[in-house]
Amino acid sequence: MAMRIPLIAGNWKMNTTLAEASVLVTEMREGLERIEGVEKVLCPPFLSLSLVRELLQGLSIKVGAQNMHFEEKGAYTGEISPLMLKELCDFVILGHSERREHFKETDQMVNEKVKAALAAGLTPILCVGERLEEREAGRAEEVVVRQGRAALQGIESPQRMVIAYEPVWAIGTGRAETGEGANATIGIIRDMMARLYSEGIAQGIRILYGGSVTAANVAEFIRQPEIDGALVGGASLKAEEFLSIVAQTVAIKK
Ligand code: 13P
Repeated sequence: MAMRIPLIAGNWKMNTTLAEASVLVTEMREGLERIEGVEKVLCPPFLSLSLVRELLQGLSIKVGAQNMHFEEKGAYTGEISPLMLKELCDFVILGHSERREHFKETDQMVNEKVKAALAAGLTPILCVGERLEEREAGRAEEVVVRQGRAALQGIESPQRMVIAYEPVWAIGTGRAETGEGANATIGIIRDMMARLYSEGIAQGIRILYGGSVTAANVAEFIRQPEIDGALVGGASLKAEEFLSIVAQTVAIKK
């Protein structure tokens, strides 16, 4: 079986001023740097990317953005392009449910973004996940597979990308999915990758769980064989808690 390096990414969402970002990175960087055997990614708001990158210079901790436009440049007032991000970070979260919900991002837009990110040399963290009503209607698997397939349309080499399964009802609610439940859905996403590409590619792709992950529950997810790490929202804004999440991940996966 392919060895997948675990990954913990912190999605800061629309939190932290420059001053706050500086404090947060300064609080966690030494501790994070000491933890080996896991990839660590911080995803601050666009405006803090440059600062966070500078504060992490020479360290192994990577930087990611939370969104981007798919065009390289042009008349798209207020948008940020893959080429701009490439100067500042390695990762970019795409298709987050908050983008789909509040900013009307469609599967097709997410697909354009994933293609553009890969073309620019960025590593997309593609988010998929069902809403509560979809889950209650027994459609969770169907929704996740539809979102995944749509986002991957026309992509021949998805090897670098990361997928995050984030059930919408678990985000920011304190009501996380169970470890087994998340493992089962992530297994379905991996099967989808095997069908779309190959068993080898499916086994090599990292798939994370996201949705109310905390230091208290992360072990339940990381213990699962299909789950390669976590995309952490609220708990990534607390240095000590985020460090604990990363440390527990290594302890379990090694
Ligand atoms: P919470 O960890 O705050 O539930 O957020 C999860 C998330 O949306 C990460 O992208």
